[in-house]
Amino acid sequence: MSNTDEFCNRAEVCEALDDSPQNPNIKETIGDIINARYHRRDVMRGMLGVAAISSVFGPSMLLAGCSDDEDAAERFRFTELESGVDETHHVAEGYDAQVLLRWGDPVFADAPAFDPRRQSAKAQLRQFGYNNDYVGFIPLDRSGDRGLLCVNHEYTNEEVMFPQIPLQDPAAGFKEMSEVLVEVEMAAHGGTIIEIERDGKTWKPILDSTYNRRISPLHTGLVFDGPAAGDARLKTKADATGRSVVGTLNNCAGGITAWNTYLMAEENFRFYFWADAPAEGKEVCAGKETTSAKRYGLGETKQAWGKFTDNPNLRRFNLAAEPNEPNRFGWIVEVDPLDAGSTPVKHTALGRFCHEGAESLVNKDGRVVLYSGDDTRFEYIYRFVSKNAFNPDDREANKKLLSEGTLYVAKFAADGSLAWLPLVFGEGPLTPDNGFDNQADVLIDARLAADRLGATCMDRPEDVQPNPVTGNVYVVLTNNKKRSADEVDAANPRAKNIFGHIIEMIPPDGDHAAETFKWNILVKCGPKDGDAGASWHAETSESGWFANPDNLAVDADGRLWVATDQGGGWPKTKKADGLYALETGGTKRGKSKLFFRCPVGAEMCGPYFTPDQETLFVAVQHPGTDGTKSYERFGRASTFEDPATRWPDFDEKMPPRPSVLAITRKGGGKIAS
Ligand code: FEO
Ligand code: CA
Ligand code: CA
Repeated sequence: MSNTDEFCNRAEVCEALDDSPQNPNIKETIGDIINARYHRRDVMRGMLGVAAISSVFGPSMLLAGCSDDEDAAERFRFTELESGVDETHHVAEGYDAQVLLRWGDPVFADAPAFDPRRQSAKAQLRQFGYNNDYVGFIPLDRSGDRGLLCVNHEYTNEEVMFPQIPLQDPAAGFKEMSEVLVEVEMAAHGGTIIEIERDGKTWKPILDSTYNRRISPLHTGLVFDGPAAGDARLKTKADATGRSVVGTLNNCAGGITAWNTYLMAEENFRFYFWADAPAEGKEVCAGKETTSAKRYGLGETKQAWGKFTDNPNLRRFNLAAEPNEPNRFGWIVEVDPLDAGSTPVKHTALGRFCHEGAESLVNKDGRVVLYSGDDTRFEYIYRFVSKNAFNPDDREANKKLLSEGTLYVAKFAADGSLAWLPLVFGEGPLTPDNGFDNQADVLIDARLAADRLGATCMDRPEDVQPNPVTGNVYVVLTNNKKRSADEVDAANPRAKNIFGHIIEMIPPDGDHAAETFKWNILVKCGPKDGDAGASWHAETSESGWFANPDNLAVDADGRLWVATDQGGGWPKTKKADGLYALETGGTKRGKSKLFFRCPVGAEMCGPYFTPDQETLFVAVQHPGTDGTKSYERFGRASTFEDPATRWPDFDEKMPPRPSVLAITRKGGGKIAS
């Protein structure tokens, strides 16, 4: 995009681009699962180890059996926060929000002190990365007082990250970016695994923990597995096997599996590949990659990485130098956080697209089901069902569950049903006649395969979050201003959908592997009393409605929490992004309440609860960037020297710093209970 003038930052540039009854069988079915695997009273008496329980039900299920399950009353007990925008964060009355980890904070005991004026890739690889997005927590003991925080670092904002570097203009060739700065950016991407410990109600990082690890696109070696591993389309000059790759990038949301591994979703990989303007009549990629590159939007470069073709770390991000490299990104990465020396795996069985997240559960038949949205306008919602069943006694075998199985894509019908269509080579239209020579082609070009199957084009799918307590699955559609009136359908009912909506998917009898589900719309977002066609429970307050849902969490009581990302559009709502508690059942269904709000220009990521539900981790991403030209008290784009906020330090020497916060209740106790 050549005209960056109307935007405040990279994210904005990229952006330019009724009640239904709950299935009465669901709770009973979940109970059946518990009873089938363990006697409930053993769980309640603590006779099972934390690892065994969380490996069956996921970490958030540790206390689920203890929750009240009344239906009629409001399930969130806290005094709602007032919406608004200012330079700092706010949490509901009666809660503390501790800044736990900031960009540049040490991850290892030997990490150099953070000096934003003298950054280096070497230092950054020992420090907490930029733009924290997904947050997961894996308890290391039964009390949950020690655990591993797993955090994705999605992208970088050069204009507030580096001194004297303006927002880069791709059309001008990223002229201020140097190789040194690009390598700092790469080191600031990826993920962090860090042990943390609770002392009373305060959490602190354990810097000498042997679990601590940084993952980045600069230095981390990964392997491919699954049907596309070793395929010719994954081979490059640096990797003649098509089975190994350096790095993971644009890690947006993710997931923690039932066997306590950490999933990192690779989202907008397309922006990292440098494409020189193709010659007249030529495409950015040749041969078989032409159709694929078009469908995946390659050629719109938003990072300078591939400009430096003399640098062996960077040359591969240049499409002319390495046309297959983009095929090696856009996957789900599985990391074993319990072994800092382990090699992360890109699972090709889960398909290649702009993966927003990767939330999974163990189905009633023991197989693992994983949901993932493709976060681009008019893209699809996918589901993976493993071939083999989860085994609580064999973690090594579980680490192979995402290697083999069937990927499906969702087709929504107006009658409230949805069909899961399998992406299997040789079935239906997925044949050589249509450009698919094997299953590797189907997975590398999952979008093209899903097109052929007639999947439903959605309004930018973000998180897809199963609720293990009720069995229902929540899908966030964040917005799609490009949907025209004649493109509206039942599942995407608004033309020019600038505020987004949330869909509830209901598997029959709690069977997440079933071929068909039911679905309905939980809320249509936007101003409650405006003319945007929003739908909220009548008791939702002026502070409680939200726009542009993005990240979801389900707490141990099975309650839904929604984080928002309005991008540069927040001035339309006059609300900073934040975290909302959203009722999904009973008479209050559709009622939303504001619990936490971000400083100006930030989006809300995370959120994640400790199993005892006494701590809620949230991630504040890119503070001081989005929409600051419309922020009355500032009125201009932020720079390193002149940001709209210096959150969280408010130190003249520090730029704004993306940070993870730990929220606890004053005096202790479960959150919102
Ligand atoms: Fe990285 Fe879809 O938000
Ligand atoms: Ca997201
Ligand atoms: Ca986002």
